[in-house]
Amino acid sequence: MLGFNFFSKKQWEVSSIPDLTGRVAIVTGGNTGLGYITVRELARKGARVYMLSRTETRALAAIAKIRKELDSELKPELEYINFDLLSLKSAKEAAEEFMRREKRLDILVNNAGIMATPYELGPDGIEIQACNGTGHFSLTVSLLPLLKETAAMPDSHVRIVNVTSAGYLFAHMEKPDFTSLESLNQKAWSTWGRYGLSKLTNILFTNELQKRFAESGITNIYCLSVHPGAVNTELTRGPLQSWPFLAPLWSLAKMFTMTSEQGALTQLYAATSPEIEEKDLKAALLFPIAQTKSKSSLAKDKDGKLGGDFWTLCEALIRQKA
Ligand SMILES: NC(=O)c1ccc[n+]([C@@H]2O[C@H](COP(=O)([O-])OP(=O)(O)OC[C@H]3O[C@@H](n4cnc5c(N)ncnc54)[C@H](OP(=O)(O)O)[C@@H]3O)[C@@H](O)[C@H]2O)c1
Repeated sequence: MLGFNFFSKKQWEVSSIPDLTGRVAIVTGGNTGLGYITVRELARKGARVYMLSRTETRALAAIAKIRKELDSELKPELEYINFDLLSLKSAKEAAEEFMRREKRLDILVNNAGIMATPYELGPDGIEIQACNGTGHFSLTVSLLPLLKETAAMPDSHVRIVNVTSAGYLFAHMEKPDFTSLESLNQKAWSTWGRYGLSKLTNILFTNELQKRFAESGITNIYCLSVHPGAVNTELTRGPLQSWPFLAPLWSLAKMFTMTSEQGALTQLYAATSPEIEEKDLKAALLFPIAQTKSKSSLAKDKDGKLGGDFWTLCEALIRQKA
């Protein structure tokens, strides 16, 4: 939740998003908060955007709201596919449904997430915050054939953006281990520790994806991790569930947060800016607004052990559950 740099040298703006006509994008959790603005701004620039959300009524209401907000002359191309981050099968099926409908995927923004919820297992036996990582793994890996095909097309600019958090540093209070489902679930850890772990997996997944693309000779797909900043969204639903008595404190804290419009800038930059390629920001971690940030040594994962273990575990879970 930390990291808005008021003294940031440059301020990247939505007006810098290039024309996206002909490109196709997916944004998970696009019905509210940062995802909503991301969907809206990609559509404003001409991309066909798929909102992958768990609740159809919320998604369709959000799409209708975006249509109203955007100039009707733009005729925004907005679609919805059901996607539940908690279910590896749902994520895989969402990818399959998308690939039935589309012949390209230029931008994938893995944005959906929950924060600081009480310990609970999802339908696959995975702790629900850990699903911030595993659900997006299942979606992204299922979409890889189409992402690679798109990257082979002329003038393609394929981006995979994983929305993490500066809160990934909470995982450093313990020793992360991804060799088993039990060690991923970390029942004994604090609620914030588990959130941090899930956000660390978002970064490790970015690193590992980029490494695997490089190993298979693919150099024009850019994978990035983004911390949006401390933003006033519905993400506080989790902490309010864990500690309802702290509600007045959260209301106070909101006074020091960014708007969703400001918060979405860094992921929009990662998803669209030509600078990503010009500066060759492969597997970079970005902080607000549109700034590179060095990763902690755990997140750098120099020997690739954590990222490799996370990948292997997710693959095994998908084989069992999806
Ligand atoms: N806000 C911040 O200060 C902040 C800081 C650092 C990182 N982030 C990250 O930014 C991302 C977006 O968060 P936000 O602040 O925009 O929060 P938000 O307003 O609560 O939006 C979260 C989105 O994720 C969706 N989602 C949650 N669980 C899901 C599930 N099981 N399946 C599918 N979709 C699900 C929500 O859908 P429903 O509306 O149906 O619940 C909603 O669309 C998250 O990954 C978060 O960790 C946010």
